[in-house]
Amino acid sequence: MSTDTALPELTPTTALSVETVQSVHHWNEHLFSFSVSRPDSFRFRSGEFVMIGLQGDNGKPLLRAYSVASPSYDEKLDFLSIKVEDGPLTSKLQKVQPGDNIYLGRKPTGTLVADALLPGKRLFMLSTGTGLAPFLSVARDPDIYDMFDEVVIVHSVRRVSDLAFHDELAGKLADDPLVGDVAQEKFHYVPTVTREPFHTTGRIDALIEDGRLFAGLPSAHGFNPETDRIMMCGSMEMIKSLGAKFEEMGFPEGSNAQPGAYVIEKAFAG
Ligand SMILES: Cc1cc2nc3c(=O)[nH]c(=O)nc-3n(C[C@H](O)[C@H](O)[C@H](O)COP(=O)(O)OP(=O)(O)OC[C@H]3O[C@@H](n4cnc5c(N)ncnc54)[C@H](O)[C@@H]3O)c2cc1C
Ligand SMILES: NC(=O)c1ccc[n+]([C@@H]2O[C@H](COP(=O)([O-])OP(=O)(O)OC[C@H]3O[C@@H](n4cnc5c(N)ncnc54)[C@H](OP(=O)(O)O)[C@@H]3O)[C@@H](O)[C@H]2O)c1
Repeated sequence: MSTDTALPELTPTTALSVETVQSVHHWNEHLFSFSVSRPDSFRFRSGEFVMIGLQGDNGKPLLRAYSVASPSYDEKLDFLSIKVEDGPLTSKLQKVQPGDNIYLGRKPTGTLVADALLPGKRLFMLSTGTGLAPFLSVARDPDIYDMFDEVVIVHSVRRVSDLAFHDELAGKLADDPLVGDVAQEKFHYVPTVTREPFHTTGRIDALIEDGRLFAGLPSAHGFNPETDRIMMCGSMEMIKSLGAKFEEMGFPEGSNAQPGAYVIEKAFAG
């Protein structure tokens, strides 16, 4: 552990391994990302989440769900985190430094996975805030580019500095060792900022409504339940209202047991 933090040493349990923080990047006062070591036994599907945490004030693990933000082939695990003022976990987690220990759950799970979607032509990943995290993993999964002709991340944030990983995404993941080439052709990034000037402004529902969500895509047409597949993560209100619209348009919701045309992370509360 680094000497300038007061984080205690952690002990693994049957449900939790103890991992080492490798790097930390602060995007702004509300948002940071970090990487941790990955145990050989840790297997996950792109888009899944896992419990992570630190020791709470009562000496017990203080855990929260986090989407893995790195692809499944990566040797490390990346996470993207909010800093909630007075948040039990994130008020401490935002202080981690390389060399510190964190708990990592041994059983990742989730519904934002390709297995829960029917075959299609276009994949839309609609996110607000830290809801981007699972899509950073999905968009770097080589299998996704075998399944879809167009792979689109839409990211809605309040401020320009909330656009985490903007440069990598705007560069169409060119530096990725596995999908860098195919993503140049198939990957598309639609960032929008709702509370500051930017080239694209307005919430995701507004971009769908006036067609700006589709304007930069090779296909350029609106949603079609026959060929489009949608993943949503972030604001619960947005997920509820857009989910209802997609149902009306004839998109059935998918699950691991029964694949469909759109999926949400049911457990996501942020
Ligand atoms: C399936 C799932 C996946 C998640 N993945 C992530 C992730 O990848 N990154 C991440 O930062 N958080 C994620 N979360 C939220 C995360 O579990 C915690 O809530 C968050 O780390 C804050 O913890 P806390 O103890 O500081 O505050 P909490 O007591 O957990 O939260 C306090 C309040 O802060 C707000 N809040 C919490 N998290 C967020 C958020 N991410 N965005 C906006 N508002 C929020 C909510 O209003 C919440 O009631 C996920 C949650 C679920 C259920
Ligand atoms: N990011 C910041 O600058 C900031 C500043 C102060 C406090 N915080 C704290 O951090 C928490 C999370 O903030 P956040 O910015 O990550 O998340 P957020 O408030 O959910 O906003 C993220 C994006 O989602 C959009 N959005 C919110 N509700 C929506 C809905 N029902 N339908 C469609 N789009 C919707 C927002 O648009 P709108 O802008 O139109 O709402 C914004 O573009 C907040 O609750 C707050 O406590 C964040």
